[in-house]
Amino acid sequence: MLNGIGFRLAVPIDHADILAFQRAAVAGVGCGHYTGKELAAWYCCPAPGLAELIWSGRYLLALEGWRPVGGAGWEPAGPGAGRVRAVFVHPDHAGRGIGRALMERVEVAMAAAGLVEAVVPALIEAVPFYRSLGYREVGDGCFDLAGVSLAYRILRKPLEAGAAALAA
Ligand SMILES: CC(C)(COP(=O)(O)OP(=O)(O)OC[C@H]1O[C@@H](n2cnc3c(N)ncnc32)[C@H](O)[C@@H]1OP(=O)(O)O)[C@@H](O)C(=O)NCCC(=O)NCCS
Repeated sequence: MLNGIGFRLAVPIDHADILAFQRAAVAGVGCGHYTGKELAAWYCCPAPGLAELIWSGRYLLALEGWRPVGGAGWEPAGPGAGRVRAVFVHPDHAGRGIGRALMERVEVAMAAAGLVEAVVPALIEAVPFYRSLGYREVGDGCFDLAGVSLAYRILRKPLEAGAAALAA
């Protein structure tokens, strides 16, 4: 299923390629829960703080050949917790298990950093994706993207499984 897909950490020179697959992923989200104005604001800025994520060595890429087709990252979010950031897969590659594979690797990285819980502020369309990975909904919130408010759902997952896999 993941034939031909490789993984590596992003470096600053990847920035434009990352923005390209992130924007393609946003463009692939239909007007379901969000208005055109909300989707346009998200398209303009798919992942605030992306440069810092890349610089910190916490943004993982999925590549087909040399071309980045998806990515996911994380950042510290309080004692014992890590926030999942900027999970995107180009729509041409959706449904191949790339998002799941990225998240498994991100969770292992968070567990390796000593974290015990993953938290994700998920756009509503992506909630079923996170549920299928074992995340459970615990609340709601709102992003402010240049004055446009984007609702999200907060999901959490304990990282014991990742830590156990790492220790094995
Ligand atoms: C959400 C996203 C990252 C999923 O990536 P993907 O590579 O297509 O996901 P996968 O193929 O690894 O799917 C993993 C599981 O999630 C499920 N899933 C993925 N997207 C789903 C959706 N929209 N609705 C229901 N289930 C979904 C799959 O069925 C699969 O379940 P399974 O393993 O039990 O069969 C991708 O669709 C995307 O980039 N969306 C737009 C951007 C976005 O919303 N990002 C999240 C921001 S919080």
